[in-house]
Amino acid sequence: MAQGRFHNKIGTFAAIAGSVVGLGNIWRFPYLAGDNGGFAFLIVYLIVSLLVSAPVMLSEFSIGRSQRCNAMRAFRNISSGPWFLIGFLGVATAYVIDSFYMVVGGWSLKFLQLSVTNAFQSLSADEVAHTFSSFIADGSSTVLWSESTLIIATLVILLGVSGGIERFNKVLMPTLLLLLIVLAINSVFFLPDSSKGIEFLFKPDFSKISYETVLKAMGQSFFSLSLGMGAMLTYSAYMPAKQNLPKTAFSIVAFDTIIAIISGLAIFPAVFSFGVDPSAGPQLLFITMPAIFGQITGGHFLSILFFLLVFFAASTSQVSLLEVVTAYISEELGIKRRKAALLIFATMSITGGMCALSQTGSDTFVFFGMSLFDIFDYASSNFMLPIGGLLIVIFAGWVMPKRILHAQLTNGAEDESITFKGLRFLIRFIAPIFVALMFLNLIGLF
Ligand code: PHE
Repeated sequence: MAQGRFHNKIGTFAAIAGSVVGLGNIWRFPYLAGDNGGFAFLIVYLIVSLLVSAPVMLSEFSIGRSQRCNAMRAFRNISSGPWFLIGFLGVATAYVIDSFYMVVGGWSLKFLQLSVTNAFQSLSADEVAHTFSSFIADGSSTVLWSESTLIIATLVILLGVSGGIERFNKVLMPTLLLLLIVLAINSVFFLPDSSKGIEFLFKPDFSKISYETVLKAMGQSFFSLSLGMGAMLTYSAYMPAKQNLPKTAFSIVAFDTIIAIISGLAIFPAVFSFGVDPSAGPQLLFITMPAIFGQITGGHFLSILFFLLVFFAASTSQVSLLEVVTAYISEELGIKRRKAALLIFATMSITGGMCALSQTGSDTFVFFGMSLFDIFDYASSNFMLPIGGLLIVIFAGWVMPKRILHAQLTNGAEDESITFKGLRFLIRFIAPIFVALMFLNLIGLF
């Protein structure tokens, strides 16, 4: 039985929102949208999120809330045979993702500190690039900053499901929204030439929409909504029984997309008004943005807000990853949550530290020419998440008894309405087909 419960609907929403809103929203979505047809991409993104990701999320919710336990045990409770391996894969994926996610969290914390000391003042992009590369090349420093984010996330876990996770997200998520809105207003209204950035993000270009774009949108939606690795499943074990699952899933999709769009509005007007390369990834967050802040009025203050935002986004997602593993270890080994959290802290310090060290540019923890950080990133987003997601919907649609799905999606009402039938159809047919296609595409077979 799950060791804890979220207090109310708002707390549940905040916790789930905290997991889904992360680096995927801040740097990946805006760039993908701008580069793949702007408004046209947004429409495709929304369609696949509603038809594919929302059903996957509802599957995780139904499995988790009906069993109220960790990801592995939930599958084992519902069905004998090898199905529990799906849950095990989820726990392993959460562990792997967290090992490199904490490193990026560490970068954001370090850059927050640099912002506070006004270290970017008047630096050129090349100089910031140098600051960034010498920081990640310094093993002891990156390890230290990564461990700091792990300590924060572990403390939240130690405070418990409601007293820790729920409370943390209830404070951080509204703050995050506020920070983002302030940054977006500043970019849109107070920077010269901001319209170019808005145009990059929104200008509809339907000629860019292809099969490939649809699959890209789906991959992004999946990662951004924390699907395929048991995070949504684990959090739903703590949900109030009265929470309406379809409503929650669709509002989370909407919220996550809105945050991604506002992030685009905060970032791209700045990028374009300085005429710099709008490329995505670490480059954008840790080089381009600080260089811009170093040159604008109020940049000192804005850079603090910005890195606070990035850190909050990363940290609330990290907590959800850690909780998947904590629930599993504590329930399976039959030990207290606290003990489990400390045990995971000890091992994750090592694997996360290895990921940090693998980025220093030396040969440490580099295998076949790829750093451990990149291997973990690559394996999780290209294999573990899509395979996990595919198996989860197949399980929910074809293996789990229909009455469980029905009871969860309708909250026990005798509802055989078109909505339930429609959602079940999406879970059984549409979502598995599309997730399978996405997987084949990611591994280059389609
Ligand atoms: N959804 C998070 C983001 O957008 C990443 C994440 C994936 C978090 C999987 C938890 C689980 O960055």
